[in-house]
Amino acid sequence: MSDLPTPSIPTAELHLHIEGTLEPELAFALAQRNGISLPYASEDELRGAYSFTDLQSFLNLYYALMAVLRTEDDFAELAHAYLARARAQGVRHAEIFFDPQAHTVRGVSIGTVIDGLSRALDEAPQTYGITTRLIMCFLRDESAQSALTTFEAARPWLDRIAAVGLDSAEVGNPPSKFREVFERARDAGLKCVAHAGEEGPPGYVWEALDVLGVDRIDHGVRCLEDADLVARLVAEQVPLTVCPLSNVRLRVHERLADHPLREMLTAGLLVTVNSDDPAYFGGYVGDNYTAVRDALGLDGATLRTLARNSFLAAFIDEETRAGYL
Ligand code: HPA
Ligand code: ZN
Repeated sequence: MSDLPTPSIPTAELHLHIEGTLEPELAFALAQRNGISLPYASEDELRGAYSFTDLQSFLNLYYALMAVLRTEDDFAELAHAYLARARAQGVRHAEIFFDPQAHTVRGVSIGTVIDGLSRALDEAPQTYGITTRLIMCFLRDESAQSALTTFEAARPWLDRIAAVGLDSAEVGNPPSKFREVFERARDAGLKCVAHAGEEGPPGYVWEALDVLGVDRIDHGVRCLEDADLVARLVAEQVPLTVCPLSNVRLRVHERLADHPLREMLTAGLLVTVNSDDPAYFGGYVGDNYTAVRDALGLDGATLRTLARNSFLAAFIDEETRAGYL
């Protein structure tokens, strides 16, 4: 975990890939337990590989390292490790993405993944003081049929899943490719979110809204290239789950000082700050708050607005929301 001082401000984390919380220490421990050899001699050597040129260069390592996750216990341990770190950084509510196809393709069943994660999440209110939701993401560089098959395989566990999402390689895989599976998810009473406007164009954000009917946009920073889109997002107060340290590590923005977070807030967008894949991108959610505070000179009131936005954008009932605001 980062040594940066973290704000004590309570937050909801709404953009967090549980597989992206796999720290090198746990990766090596699980590799040993499962008899898997990693192509890195040490944790430091693995950390040394965390130098990314774009989203795809990160995804290559992210999927490769998942090889160590095999059993229910592994997924439970992964989630416990995240919850402990999140608690230390002020998180009170976490909406957690997982990528079932990245596991089923390796022969790990969807039940192993969901049951393992659920074991940790069920204990989270008691043990960590954190309420949680699970968001099942489809890999957009896989086929629409694979997403449908995955959704059907997850049906027995839908009571454990709050929403569906869309992640992985964005460019060339527009939201409209997944119209049918999102329709099925909405019919089943699930909320919908999608990564859009991270590397992909503003048109993908329009599609996520108009074709998939999403309740939130993940990232969405490229909306600023389209004034009509910004006006729509502001008018409807569609939440954007922005991930500043991720944006810099994946070269969406060259330096944190260039990040448009302040501009987005000034435009009236409902912006939240999140960590994305904290084990890979240099910090958990509190670290992201601290980093934007320092790089962009945000004052306490602005940080409190961001934290308040996170609870406004969370998939929680109004009574629970009122307790957080
Ligand atoms: N973008 C798309 N897919 C992802 C990401 C991301 O930032 N992190 C994990 N999968
Ligand atoms: Zn993401």
